[in-house]
Amino acid sequence: MSECRGFYSWCFGFTFLLGLTTLFLWLSLRPQNPSYDLIDFYSPALDIASNSPNTTRNTTILFQLKISNPNKDSGIHYDAINVSLYYKEKKIGESNVQGFYQGHKKTAKKSVVIAAANELFWEAASLEVLNRTAVFRVDLVIGLRFKVVWANTRHKGVEVAGHVPVGVDGKMVAGKKKRIKLK
Ligand SMILES: *[C@@H]1O[C@H](CO)[C@@H](O)[C@H](O)[C@H]1NC(C)=O
Ligand SMILES: *[C@@H]1O[C@H](CO)[C@@H](O)[C@H](O)[C@H]1NC(C)=O
Ligand SMILES: *[C@@H]1O[C@H](CO)[C@@H](O)[C@H](O)[C@H]1NC(C)=O
Ligand SMILES: *[C@@H]1O[C@H](CO)[C@@H](O)[C@H](O)[C@H]1NC(C)=O
Repeated sequence: MSECRGFYSWCFGFTFLLGLTTLFLWLSLRPQNPSYDLIDFYSPALDIASNSPNTTRNTTILFQLKISNPNKDSGIHYDAINVSLYYKEKKIGESNVQGFYQGHKKTAKKSVVIAAANELFWEAASLEVLNRTAVFRVDLVIGLRFKVVWANTRHKGVEVAGHVPVGVDGKMVAGKKKRIKLK
């Protein structure tokens, strides 16, 4: 009888310890979300300060995404990232970034080029820039999986966005840090 009880309490203790170890392992390996920053936004068409028709006739919009993986124990597989650009709630262009793998604690810079050929929008935005700033919105739709030790987590969908004010030199107005956080 007492031997039997000893066995059960051993079993209980073992299960408890296993549970605790799993919990701690999970807490220490649980991956954190990457951060997304927008840098070097430039619209030649709104670079009215350049005083060059060659520049202001150029309706491409260029910027870079800076994506940082904060995890020291997990890598990240990104599917293609869909990028949309809005002006006054209207979509004026889109692009995408090819899927890639990002190692532990790494930062990736990805260039985005968007051709936005809607003339009405350019007229309104140029007037606004001359006045003060025109504000764009950049939207990312991201699918990703974390690679924790050997195993991949399930696909996870993330959507982040940020507002980008642009001045009369066609560049974003972003203060000292020169970046805009997409959340
Ligand atoms: C503007 O473009 C035209 C034709 O491509 C070129 O001949 C001219 O030199 C350019 N002007 C400037 C100021 O870059
Ligand atoms: C528009 O401007 C960008 C940035 O200056 C440049 O890379 C691109 O070649 C230009 N496109 C045209 C059609 O001039
Ligand atoms: C310019 O700014 C003024 C004051 O903020 C505003 O009332 C006006 O509508 C603006 N004009 C344009 C074209 O954005
Ligand atoms: C990105 O857009 C493509 C084409 O519209 C779509 O098939 C894909 O599912 C989108 N990706 C994400 C992560 O939403």
